[in-house]
Amino acid sequence: MKGFTAALLVWALISPSSGGGGGVGETWPTHVACRDGGLEVLYQSCDPLQDFGFSVEQCYKQLKPNLSIRFGIILREDINKLFLDVSLLTQGSSILNLSYPVCEEDFPRFSFCGRKKGEQIYYAGPLNNPRFDIPEGKYQVLLELYNENRSTVACANATVICS
Ligand SMILES: *[C@@H]1O[C@H](CO)[C@@H](O)[C@H](O)[C@H]1NC(C)=O
Ligand SMILES: *[C@@H]1O[C@H](CO)[C@@H](O)[C@H](O)[C@H]1NC(C)=O
Ligand SMILES: *[C@@H]1O[C@H](CO)[C@@H](O)[C@H](O)[C@H]1NC(C)=O
Ligand SMILES: *[C@@H]1O[C@H](CO)[C@@H](O)[C@H](O)[C@H]1NC(C)=O
Repeated sequence: MKGFTAALLVWALISPSSGGGGGVGETWPTHVACRDGGLEVLYQSCDPLQDFGFSVEQCYKQLKPNLSIRFGIILREDINKLFLDVSLLTQGSSILNLSYPVCEEDFPRFSFCGRKKGEQIYYAGPLNNPRFDIPEGKYQVLLELYNENRSTVACANATVICS
């Protein structure tokens, strides 16, 4: 699993932004972030310029408070400040919008805060999320990471299936 994740990450980082013959409207492939314990998380980059690697270790529908993730991307922008917007939808209707500060100048939560445009970040570690039980169902999740200038750093749409 670890080897597979690393391979996926490398592949995601070096994969060219336009494959042969695709042309306008081409989308990034769907990746599996985790598939385990009754939970399946699939995601696709919605940034036309690049794909990124993401995976969750030990995913269960009862999310542990010390969830461990892996995340790799080449930065499109400086990230002195970084924010995450999450929108949750089920059957096309919006059920939740969250906005979460990831990096703030005075309180950098993660080692990669403050990195510059063009640098590659690879983070493997805990998220410090709340303990959370995912109700059964199929959800669409839209995620956007952006900096203090509201420039997109990463964007993804995901499908979460909890059975
Ligand atoms: C992302 O959105 C596109 C367009 O709405 C959709 O076709 C695709 O299935 C979605 N991918 C995932 C992983 O949810
Ligand atoms: C989270 O904590 C539990 C219980 O303390 C432990 O068994 C598990 O290995 C930890 N998971 C991670 C990813 O650190
Ligand atoms: C935000 O925009 C200002 C003005 O254009 C620029 O000086 C600054 O470097 C930008 N910050 C980042 C993190 O891109
Ligand atoms: C979430 O944000 C979208 C877009 O701004 C809005 O249409 C939707 O009603 C919001 N959903 C909730 C539950 O507030």
